[in-house]
Amino acid sequence: MAQAKIGIIGGSGLYQMEALKEIQEVTLDTPFGSPSDALAIGQLEGTSVAFLARHGRNHHLTPSELPFRANIHAMKQLGVEYIISASAVGSLKEAVKPLDMVVPDQFVDRTQHRKATFFGEGIVAHIAFGNPVCPALAALLSDTIETLALPDITLHRGGTYVCMEGPAFSTKAESNLYRSWGATVIGMTNLTEAKLAREAEIAYATLALVTDYDCWHPDHDHVTVEMVIGNLQRNAVNAQKVIQAAVKRLRDNPPPSEAHSALKYAILTPRD
Ligand code: ADE
Repeated sequence: MAQAKIGIIGGSGLYQMEALKEIQEVTLDTPFGSPSDALAIGQLEGTSVAFLARHGRNHHLTPSELPFRANIHAMKQLGVEYIISASAVGSLKEAVKPLDMVVPDQFVDRTQHRKATFFGEGIVAHIAFGNPVCPALAALLSDTIETLALPDITLHRGGTYVCMEGPAFSTKAESNLYRSWGATVIGMTNLTEAKLAREAEIAYATLALVTDYDCWHPDHDHVTVEMVIGNLQRNAVNAQKVIQAAVKRLRDNPPPSEAHSALKYAILTPRD
């Protein structure tokens, strides 16, 4: 089977990587069912990359329906050691504008209906998750964005991503509550991926693409799907540039990551 050290997960609006060449579509099975779609394994900047459309290429899966465990398991089967996950998010801060990019360093979990662990059923493990995003991979991603200096795009290094269940967007009370917590952006998927990636010992970082001001902002319309898709299409071109340049850096200087040994002291059940 084809292998790839780098995995890309594309969210709403990012259903393929334009620059990926010599693509082989791989349909994988996992103990957790099928991934969201076939994975596209191809060459980007002279290195193998595996791409997965999180919601399926026709966007047929809601956040609660996503086979998160199968998606991360599939990446692991392919030998992926680094995942860059691109995602649409709403902004919870005035200074974080639609079309900006955020590389979060923290998450708050507001999900309700998901399995976010590979453990249980006889094997108990508690991974460290104080730094839920790989700091080395996040720094590489932020440095890449800074170097590219894309016109009109502000980069926000770090920030807290609230991961809600969805699929409905937040109420105003919820949105204001998250703002009072000091959170930066809101989305529906990345915390779950980050946890599973850590359990799979894969370094993980998020490229959050701001599409809207959620519903708290008095001077902006409440978030709609139309707004999200419109802005993400604008963002998608830039996101592809960022991902391609980040892949080049990763190819040349893959950083050591604590995620790669996350299970070393995490498993409690004796392995006899
Ligand atoms: N994805 C994009 N915008 C969002 C928002 N406002 N809330 C949750 N997820 C989002």
